Amino acid sequence: MTPTLSDRIQQFYDASSGLWEQVWGEHMHHGYYGADGQRRCDRHQAQVDLIEELLTWSQPQSATQILDVGCGIGGSSLYLAEKFQASVTGITLSPVQANRATARAQEAGLTSQVQFKVADAMQMPFTDQSFDLVWSLESGEHMPDKTQFLQECSRVLKPGGTLIVATWCHRSRTPPQPPLTPQEHQLLSQLYRIYHLPYIISLSDYAEIAQCLPFHQVRTADWSAAVAPFWDEVMTSALNPSVIWKILTAGWSTLQGALALRLMSAGYRQGLIRYGLLCATK
Ligand SMILES: C[S@@+](CC[C@H](N)C(=O)[O-])C[C@H]1O[C@@H](n2cnc3c(N)ncnc32)[C@H](O)[C@@H]1O
Repeated sequence: MTPTLSDRIQQFYDASSGLWEQVWGEHMHHGYYGADGQRRCDRHQAQVDLIEELLTWSQPQSATQILDVGCGIGGSSLYLAEKFQASVTGITLSPVQANRATARAQEAGLTSQVQFKVADAMQMPFTDQSFDLVWSLESGEHMPDKTQFLQECSRVLKPGGTLIVATWCHRSRTPPQPPLTPQEHQLLSQLYRIYHLPYIISLSDYAEIAQCLPFHQVRTADWSAAVAPFWDEVMTSALNPSVIWKILTAGWSTLQGALALRLMSAGYRQGLIRYGLLCATK
């Protein structure tokens, strides 16, 4: 039977998350290198800086009950739980990630505050108005229906709660911007196949969707320049022989993911891939 998109995402993260953690640590998202991307710092510090900059930019009103949608191995979940003394729930499609995130919460002594579940963001197993902050770092690009994704985020948010999404987008196609070219479509198709993305949209598309849902104060920002150095940093660190060996032995999908690092880097350089932020209040 042909695996579904969810199966493929699950298998991809089940297979690659151990390697990612060993080589690059607990955060599976871009780093922040200053607004113009010129600040030089350690890659891990840049990833923590991204979380802090996002919080500064979005100014959530409260953060006591947090949902981390597409939580990976709980990098953000544990960080936010400690920072805000909050109760955090993380969801992922990958049982390997959920188990590792739970073990990390135990190691950090945070099990009374933090829990992880294997669950689908398209149909979240939570009652309406359960959280005051919904946080999604680089999972929106995997969602097969962006409207349903944001609708679910809105449903589980309490009135007055904040949604923060950071996600891979493509450039705007709104005139005077031209439509995407065949070459751009081709690069996107390769990224979709390798990273198991159904499709990505522009940042203004996200804003339009959010404006039609029960949100107000919808804001967006394009942080492509701030995060662009990230993929070159990951590529440089992947050239270490011990890392190359780990990638080769981690399986075909992980190897493809590593080989596609240069595609992401090219996508940024061409202005096709954009790093979009969306913040909204319910
Ligand atoms: C690139 S990782 C980001 C992990 C984490 N946010 C971080 O920054 O470290 C993408 C995550 O999205 C999750 N994901 C993708 N599609 C999902 C879905 N439909 N429901 C729940 N999680 C999903 C994956 O399982 C994975 O944990």
